[in-house]
Amino acid sequence: MDTLSPTLLWVSVSMLILHFLTAPAESQLQSPSAHIFFPRGFTAAANLTVNGGSQVLSNGVLRLTNASLRALGHAFYSSPVRFKNSSGGSAASFSTAFAFSTVPQYPGLGGHGLAFTISRSSDLPRALPSQYLGLMNASDIGNFSNHIFAAEFDTVKDFEFGDIDDNHIGIDINSLVSNASVTAGYFADNSSTPRVIHLQSGEVIQAWVDYDSLRNQLDVRISESSVKPTRAILSFNVDLSEFFEETMFVGFSASTGLLASYHYIMGWSFSMNGEAKSLDLSSLPSTPGSVKTTHKGLILGVSVSASVMVVFFLAAIALYVIHRIMTADAIEAWELDVGPHRFPYKELKKATQGFREKELLGFGGFGRVYRGTLPNTNTQVAVKRVLSRSKQGLQKFVTEINIIGRLRHRNLVQLLGWCRRRNDLLLVYEFMSNGSLDKYLFDEPKRILRWEERFKIIKGVALVLLYLHEEGDQTVIHRDIKAANVLLDGGFNGKLGDFGLAKLYEHGADPSTTRVVGTLGYLAPELTKTGKPTASSDVFSFGALMLEVVCGRRPMEPKAMPEELMLVDWVWEKWVLGSILDVVDPRLGGQFDEAEAILLLKLGLICSNRMPDIRPPMRQLVQYLEGDLVLPDKVLPPEGNYDFKKGCSGSSGCDEGPGYVHSYQASSSYDKATMSSSIANDGDLDLEAGPYSPDSSSSDSR
Ligand SMILES: *[C@@H]1O[C@H](CO)[C@@H](O)[C@H](O)[C@H]1NC(C)=O
Ligand SMILES: *[C@@H]1O[C@H](CO)[C@@H](O)[C@H](O)[C@H]1NC(C)=O
Ligand SMILES: *[C@@H]1O[C@H](CO)[C@@H](O)[C@H](O)[C@H]1NC(C)=O
Ligand SMILES: *[C@@H]1O[C@H](CO)[C@@H](O)[C@H](O)[C@H]1NC(C)=O
Ligand SMILES: *[C@@H]1O[C@H](CO)[C@@H](O)[C@H](O)[C@H]1NC(C)=O
Ligand SMILES: *[C@@H]1O[C@H](CO)[C@@H](O)[C@H](O)[C@H]1NC(C)=O
Ligand SMILES: *[C@@H]1O[C@H](CO)[C@@H](O)[C@H](O)[C@H]1NC(C)=O
Repeated sequence: MDTLSPTLLWVSVSMLILHFLTAPAESQLQSPSAHIFFPRGFTAAANLTVNGGSQVLSNGVLRLTNASLRALGHAFYSSPVRFKNSSGGSAASFSTAFAFSTVPQYPGLGGHGLAFTISRSSDLPRALPSQYLGLMNASDIGNFSNHIFAAEFDTVKDFEFGDIDDNHIGIDINSLVSNASVTAGYFADNSSTPRVIHLQSGEVIQAWVDYDSLRNQLDVRISESSVKPTRAILSFNVDLSEFFEETMFVGFSASTGLLASYHYIMGWSFSMNGEAKSLDLSSLPSTPGSVKTTHKGLILGVSVSASVMVVFFLAAIALYVIHRIMTADAIEAWELDVGPHRFPYKELKKATQGFREKELLGFGGFGRVYRGTLPNTNTQVAVKRVLSRSKQGLQKFVTEINIIGRLRHRNLVQLLGWCRRRNDLLLVYEFMSNGSLDKYLFDEPKRILRWEERFKIIKGVALVLLYLHEEGDQTVIHRDIKAANVLLDGGFNGKLGDFGLAKLYEHGADPSTTRVVGTLGYLAPELTKTGKPTASSDVFSFGALMLEVVCGRRPMEPKAMPEELMLVDWVWEKWVLGSILDVVDPRLGGQFDEAEAILLLKLGLICSNRMPDIRPPMRQLVQYLEGDLVLPDKVLPPEGNYDFKKGCSGSSGCDEGPGYVHSYQASSSYDKATMSSSIANDGDLDLEAGPYSPDSSSSDSR
């Protein structure tokens, strides 16, 4: 019996029961023009009119967009809905609830958003993707004859439309400049401060939009549960009568831009003149790659025979009871082999005061980090609560904790222990009092790091990478080197953290899609083709890290001017022009060691080379940094890192991986001048020789 997890059985059985209990609801449907109810996904003959990239998947999930860039998708209820009885009449009240999920292409990086939409047409033929959310055309913004109402769930901050942040809800009337907006979140019972919900978390979120025509009030709520919050997160006083025609189409729109997300709708209810039924999140179909699919498979298999079900049910109850008695933490055989200290869940809960928001140190693509104090020893620790997508992923990762826990280096954030509870993984690390490096480099830094501090941090990271790659029993690849994963101790020494988590995420992903894990801008180009991380792909990310530490800028700045989008291209351009020191972080106020800055920038460019073989190994990089080896003056161009050439010029073929190499080819707004300069400069370059005159031939250097 030990291959069946009791929890899983229990969940399946409860879902089965729920399934039977809720089944009659469908036959209670009222007039389709006034009531729309899809409590468990959409059927194939889905009564929906879809266009753009939208598609109803076989399990009933409506996918508005996939990860294609600059794409849009619409799905409207096929029959129009009557909102007014006469053209001069007043609009009736309406109410809707729907469940959605936004899964970014890369952890934490996606775009643009989705919107519940009421529109005069069901196809919006002129609409544009990206910041236009598939709702309108640039020339239509604010035009009264659009007749578009939208409640947007936007994950990109567009300066053009005055967006407040990159995780907001907005109410849009005939325009994309929201008439009201708020950071996505909800008010828990009786609480006056909202709790933030991350729209891009990939979790299922339920949203409610209610319009009361008597009070002229529009309310929006969201929650991660089936229960409608009492207080709305966003309210706006408006009489919609003048914006609506007599009949309108209701549905959804979503778009992607330079970055993409999968936008899914899993269930929907809509009512005129009455409150829409909330959705029961536990009975929704699951999005591709999420954990719930296992349960569903189990249900299908089991419902074949009723008698099997009864036996199964009794067995499940028995198992569940035993399971509850035995332990709440569910230790499984494979967990007992693991080396580092396994903490009891209770202890960690106590240490973090029940994972209180107040103890939250930060969050990233892989989960939230809390500050904690271990009850027995009074040691300060950081507890990372990892969001995992599947049990297999977790198991593979936990077996690796064995390796990770044994690594010891003074520039490595020490993993002290871990704990698993259901699909929650808690990792306990030594506490780093100054937080992560990115907070000192970008936007409004907490403090400006002095040059010596920056150089010391880079050296520290280089040393630990050398240790990981070459000095242990086996090569360990970090896979996600970036400023956010470099943590600073009290003396501003850099330590590398977040080990192997990228791998966990990868194992957890849908096996049918090869998912490249890492962070955009730090990912080596070959990874999008081979999907196989190597020491050399770590070196690539380290190169990006060096450049950002010197320049105080992210390797890829989606919000930057197009010509500055890619840090490496910008640095290369300045190098070519012989003005390399222009890129050094202006916040340093000129207080830096020029020779060291040039060294880091040159190394950054070398490590950013498109060809993995050209990137030096860590041992050599450490020798350069220590001054034991002198870097040659010549630097090969990083050369077509992002492969801007239309079509394929290389003999190596251009099998288009799922990643961004392809993406940026498609990017039309990218400044042409930058592209040509990064392509045209073939061959070696000598800085001392002064300004470089571009070689007119753009033949492939490979
Ligand atoms: C979908 O269409 C079918 C047939 O036209 C109809 O019976 C059903 O009620 C519709 N469902 C919804 C939710 O409108
Ligand atoms: C998205 O879907 C379209 C067709 O629906 C397909 O052509 C495209 O390759 C898909 N893109 C990705 C990134 O999966
Ligand atoms: C239209 O009029 C009917 C009958 O008076 C009423 O029941 C219905 O709610 C009205 N519809 C709208 C959209 O105002
Ligand atoms: C608006 O849509 C039309 C028709 O699709 C298109 O030709 C035009 O370029 C769009 N305008 C803008 C500003 O994008
Ligand atoms: C608004 O749109 C209508 C129809 O597309 C067009 O005729 C009109 O000129 C537009 N008005 C403005 C101010 O752009
Ligand atoms: C909504 O905002 C647009 C653009 O800012 C403005 O023209 C319009 O009057 C506003 N509508 C309402 C009802 O406030
Ligand atoms: C909220 O406050 C009301 C009255 O003040 C109280 O009855 C209710 O129990 C509170 N709810 C919660 C969840 O604290």
